[in-house]
Amino acid sequence: MPKVTFIMKDKTRKTVEFEHGKLPYDGHGLPESFLDVAMNLGIHLEHACGGSCACTTCHLIIREGMQNLSDMEDNEADRLDTAWDLTTESRLGCQAVIKGDVVAEFPMYTRNYVQEGGGIQLGATEPAKEEEKPEEVHR
Ligand code: FES
Repeated sequence: MPKVTFIMKDKTRKTVEFEHGKLPYDGHGLPESFLDVAMNLGIHLEHACGGSCACTTCHLIIREGMQNLSDMEDNEADRLDTAWDLTTESRLGCQAVIKGDVVAEFPMYTRNYVQEGGGIQLGATEPAKEEEKPEEVHR
């Protein structure tokens, strides 16, 4: 039973386990990918394109267990080239299928750039604050 540890942005760790072939599949990335496992087990992993390898919001950095993941296909490698903070241990959460124990860290930022009909939103996770207006002076 693979053990999957996510290192969150605040550096806390969340570990989940799943049994191969037992997770209900709901079309989020490849079956038993990080995204599929995260969606099934309550871990929030961004996935702006729905897991179709068309953005990089599911970018993860693999800290342990790279050998326990599926091989990277060309479409994942091409998409990853556009990820913010790309490393040699980077994978897309919706494309990397988990075959054994693995530790994956969320990058500090993701680039929300959906290639099919989406707009560009660099690191926008909170609405911008309204500019403060100077107080009116009544005389
Ligand atoms: Fe868009 Fe993985 S969710 S590439």
